[in-house]
Amino acid sequence: MTTFGLDDLRQHSDVLRLRSGKSLTVRFLEPSEGDALQAYFRSLTTRSRYNRFLGAMSELPHKLLEDFVHVGENDRFSVIATMKIDGHETIVGEARYAFDPDKDSFEFGLSIDDRWQGQGVGSALLSNLECRAAAFGATRLFGDTLRSNEVMIALARKSGFVFTNNPDDWKLVRFEKHSDLAPKKIPCASWRLAAEQISLQAAA
Ligand SMILES: CC(C)(COP(=O)(O)OP(=O)(O)OC[C@H]1O[C@@H](n2cnc3c(N)ncnc32)[C@H](O)[C@@H]1OP(=O)(O)O)[C@@H](O)C(=O)NCCC(=O)NCCS
Repeated sequence: MTTFGLDDLRQHSDVLRLRSGKSLTVRFLEPSEGDALQAYFRSLTTRSRYNRFLGAMSELPHKLLEDFVHVGENDRFSVIATMKIDGHETIVGEARYAFDPDKDSFEFGLSIDDRWQGQGVGSALLSNLECRAAAFGATRLFGDTLRSNEVMIALARKSGFVFTNNPDDWKLVRFEKHSDLAPKKIPCASWRLAAEQISLQAAA
């Protein structure tokens, strides 16, 4: 298991520039932000929640919410994408990812607030996830989406993912990408630091 202290996790906020010029911050969910994340999921349209969780769900079940809040447990991480709206930091997207150190693989799912979809937020968040995957040394990134989810399929295609059948469920399509990004070339600033810490830990 990759060990991070929560203090370390807090350092890893990335500020991204959207094509509109607005700033998007991607950072780990804080332990106190479970209610804010739940409110975000409840505010999604039924269709977006269905697409995100691959089935009907009105909110995150308590156990799953607990898992989301425990960032880093079992090499699973939750990040939120936030923007300043009317002076308040507001969640406009989220992603959850898992690193499998045995297979060097990185599995993820994400969602963007319906009001912010179609404006490049998903593309920006996905690029940031690719940085985070590279910082772990992951060589394979993948996720599953419903075959009917044309927007996610378009986003994955545009980002260089290829598609295969999900081995367990015909309704799902798996998007995957092989990555050979060396830690030194990781473009996202805070995750370069994380990669250096990981290699120092490995060398110790
Ligand atoms: C899928 C999702 C994450 C994409 O995020 P987004 O912010 O809307 O995507 P972007 O604005 O960055 O667009 C990315 C690409 O998707 C495609 N796209 C975006 N909106 C589209 C639409 N309405 N129809 C078809 N393709 C579309 C385009 O190729 C676009 O690239 P372009 O802007 O260069 O043309 C978002 O729509 C979402 O949260 N959906 C609900 C949850 C979900 O489906 N999650 C995926 C589960 S893995």
